[in-house]
Amino acid sequence: MPLHKPVEIRPATGKLGVLIPGMGAVATTFMAGVDAIRRGLAKPIGSLTQMGTIRLGKRTENRSPLIRDLVPLAKLDDIAFAGWDLFPDDAYQAAAKAGVLTKEHLAQCQDFLAGIKPMPAVFEQAYVKRLSATHAKRGKSKMDLAEQVIADIEGFRKTQKLDRLVMVWCGSTEAYHEVAPVHASLATFEKGLAQSDPEIAPSQIYAYAALKCHVPYANGAPNLTVDTPALTELAKKNQVPIAGKDFKTGQTFMKTIVSPGLKARLLGVDGWYSTNILGNRDGEVLDDPESHKTKEKSKLGALEHIMQPALYPDLYAKMHHVVRINYYPPRGDNKEGWDNIDIFGWMGYPMQIKINFLCRDSILAAPVVLDLALFMDLAQRSGLSGIQEWLSFYWKSPMTAPGLYPEHDTFIQLTKLKNTLRYLKGEDLITHLGAEYYD
Ligand SMILES: NC(=O)c1ccc[n+]([C@@H]2O[C@H](COP(=O)([O-])OP(=O)(O)OC[C@H]3O[C@@H](n4cnc5c(N)ncnc54)[C@H](O)[C@@H]3O)[C@@H](O)[C@H]2O)c1
Repeated sequence: MPLHKPVEIRPATGKLGVLIPGMGAVATTFMAGVDAIRRGLAKPIGSLTQMGTIRLGKRTENRSPLIRDLVPLAKLDDIAFAGWDLFPDDAYQAAAKAGVLTKEHLAQCQDFLAGIKPMPAVFEQAYVKRLSATHAKRGKSKMDLAEQVIADIEGFRKTQKLDRLVMVWCGSTEAYHEVAPVHASLATFEKGLAQSDPEIAPSQIYAYAALKCHVPYANGAPNLTVDTPALTELAKKNQVPIAGKDFKTGQTFMKTIVSPGLKARLLGVDGWYSTNILGNRDGEVLDDPESHKTKEKSKLGALEHIMQPALYPDLYAKMHHVVRINYYPPRGDNKEGWDNIDIFGWMGYPMQIKINFLCRDSILAAPVVLDLALFMDLAQRSGLSGIQEWLSFYWKSPMTAPGLYPEHDTFIQLTKLKNTLRYLKGEDLITHLGAEYYD
């Protein structure tokens, strides 16, 4: 018997608009893939919302529907796209420059991608030193820029006759900033917008505009953005879901798979050295020390939280964790990551693990963008608002309520996500206790 009544979820009728600040490698690979899937030319590999199943009830019940058959998600055919970028290239030109997809794949979706033209961006050089915008908005103040973004959002809603919208940041990683006094509350933030406070980042202007329009905001980069009291307050006030930060795709994804296993067996870790090379525009932006710092901080957090050195001082207190990101143009979007893990076991004997991941950054990120867009829309239709911790599965630095440490273990994150879906539908949560099978 279900424990509680299902949550009322508004149906996913009508069209869903996906708004993307930053139409670079990730965004265009995502759009091209959705187009190919819609036309039956590709399978949605890597997407939990499209291919994932969910067990319901007891193991003996044999009920494991597709997730998209359990909860009402927007259909891929009902999605429309819009975005902003610093450069005027349409999505086809941007995808060709990003160099992720083959000529054959690009040709397949040329007409579709060429029809998606970016709106002029909100940009401030201090936040992304390595890029110079040729397609940016001008405004009297940051509030004026926010109002222009609001007009863009409402224009897209109207012209495409959209029922609902979500925004997923796929723009460059901004320079490292901490929470400043201007982020203390919605009132200080709005005053700061009017006064063009230098601590308000371009990503925060998009996020503010989205939340004002009741549009959920997911943050694909490690930027602070909505992880501030001011924008969390606005999200709660307007009852809009927010989530972030930084898509979990390559090296950190591997780290949050392997490290829970080592800890589960109480194997010690002396050190974890991670380095990688990447040569896309993201790598170029991250070559700037200030953007690099934002990313490095995001990548460093996971291991400390999973290993809990304070609880296991004999195993992890001396763990030396190093993360290096190196811009190396010849590789383009095809990143290569190396991890050297120095572990120790019974009687302290040392051992080593080497991981060499030859991945494709945007191929890993695209299904994450799709799932986030669909789950953020589901969250809003289910009446969930503020920080969506159940979506930690997708993030390198999951946002949490103040005072809570983030959950980084990929498998706990997946359990949490699936239990949230069961909860929404009034299904029993799965605890894996299993005692009933032996009564
Ligand atoms: N690919 C992955 O696996 C992965 C994983 C985690 C996070 N990310 C993050 O996702 C983001 C996108 O990655 P990418 O490989 O597509 O990078 P990219 O450089 O190809 O694309 C980013 C785009 O954002 C644009 N941009 C920058 N500032 C902007 C602004 N203020 N407004 C509008 N557009 C702006 C740039 O012109 C560029 O076209 C980066 O922040 C990256 O760190 C990517």
